[in-house]
Amino acid sequence: MYAIGTEEEAGFILYHHLQAQASINSWDYPEPPEGWKRLGSGCYRVAYLAPSGVVYKVQGRYSNDNDRTWQSNFSEVQNLRKHHLKRFPKGCRLPRWNSFEFPEGKIVVAMEKFDRLLNSLTWQERDSTREARIRMLGILDDVHDTHDANLAYDDKTKEVVIIDWGA
Ligand SMILES: Nc1ncnc2c1ncn2[C@@H]1O[C@H](COP(=O)(O)OP(=O)(O)O)[C@@H](O)[C@H]1O
Ligand SMILES: [Mg+2]
Repeated sequence: MYAIGTEEEAGFILYHHLQAQASINSWDYPEPPEGWKRLGSGCYRVAYLAPSGVVYKVQGRYSNDNDRTWQSNFSEVQNLRKHHLKRFPKGCRLPRWNSFEFPEGKIVVAMEKFDRLLNSLTWQERDSTREARIRMLGILDDVHDTHDANLAYDDKTKEVVIIDWGA
């Protein structure tokens, strides 16, 4: 694991999220705290960007029955742990990540921030990443939800990086 993020920031955003969520319509996601941004959300998690530049993912809903299942932060951490010592093919890599566990088993995942997802690439860039993507999925045959909003592109190194390891 390449440690990133702090327990303080993870705890701060978790408790903000839980508190703010309790006061809004159950299908909305809370506004971020001052100085933070909400980067995106999928069906399961909300990604907040801290003032420090680190992404923190909290679960959209924490409840006893979905905390540890498919697409949860728990399952993301299991998958990252499982694959992080693997040798990745050229043109792709793991994100820097970390995880923090809070009372009642609530997990927050920290991750390096990417400025672009694969769905924002030009056709030319898309062509240039095709082979790396196929090679990477070849060694990760148990990671299934690899659509373009779950993959990022590192502009500096021109590498493809999976950001959603929930499945
Ligand atoms: N490391 C990251 N860098 C930039 N954006 C991110 C990052 N992690 C998540 N996001 C944004 O948040 C969205 C939801 O995160 P994701 O992990 O895919 O959650 P879900 O499991 O709900 O699909 C992503 O599609 C993306 O827009
Ligand atoms: Mg996703």
